Amino acid sequence: MLNYQVVDTYEELCRIGADMIAGQIVKKPDSVLGLATGSSPEGIYKILVDLYRAGKLDFSKITSVNLDEYVGLGGDHPQSYRYFMQKHLFDYVNIDPAKTFVPNGLAPDLAAECAAYDKRIETLGGIDLQLLGIGVDGHIGFNEPGDCFVEPTHVAELHPSTIAANARFFASADDVPRAALSMGIGPIMRARKILLIANGKAKKESVEKAVSGPITPLLPASILQLHPDVTVIYSKN
Ligand code: GLP
Repeated sequence: MLNYQVVDTYEELCRIGADMIAGQIVKKPDSVLGLATGSSPEGIYKILVDLYRAGKLDFSKITSVNLDEYVGLGGDHPQSYRYFMQKHLFDYVNIDPAKTFVPNGLAPDLAAECAAYDKRIETLGGIDLQLLGIGVDGHIGFNEPGDCFVEPTHVAELHPSTIAANARFFASADDVPRAALSMGIGPIMRARKILLIANGKAKKESVEKAVSGPITPLLPASILQLHPDVTVIYSKN
């Protein structure tokens, strides 16, 4: 079932989203959290850090698995998703660094890295709560629009609109990696609970299509309509 909430402000979105994640951590302290990067979750991570500092959250038994990573960027590259996670969450809470997983964009054998990533998620018992953003083209993770939904974790070629959208984080569009490792639709859909967040006018169309348009690989997030427990929060600003 898909629960769609529209709120006025990004602050409201973050409060509701952070409450859901905090609730999951309190209810199941050894949860496996599927985490996302991008500008959308930043405010949520900030609230989670504040809750940790206030002594209200304990990450010591949490495991995290991130959705994606750029091919060719190491964890010390400021635009890598590993770096993002360190700087927005991991460095400020008591999560065990050995239990934070992000695909390795520098792996010598990318196919083996993808297969090992899926195996790891399976061994962990799957994802309890998966946080997702959405691209303007409807991508989740880096599952880009295409002819079919890609089930396993894979190497994804980035769509031109994604390269353009993500160029703001790099010196120029030419510096945006052309490929990424992305958790596949399979492990995302097997998460027991999913929270998708999006804010601002640029995302309105893709969110509306995702929640009530046709289910099609041309808009990858639309597959979420088939998941039994999804919350989508969209804020207008
Ligand atoms: C990026 C990431 C996605 C993210 C999306 C939206 O390309 N791969 O996981 O959800 O784009 O990013 P933002 O929240 O910055 O708009």
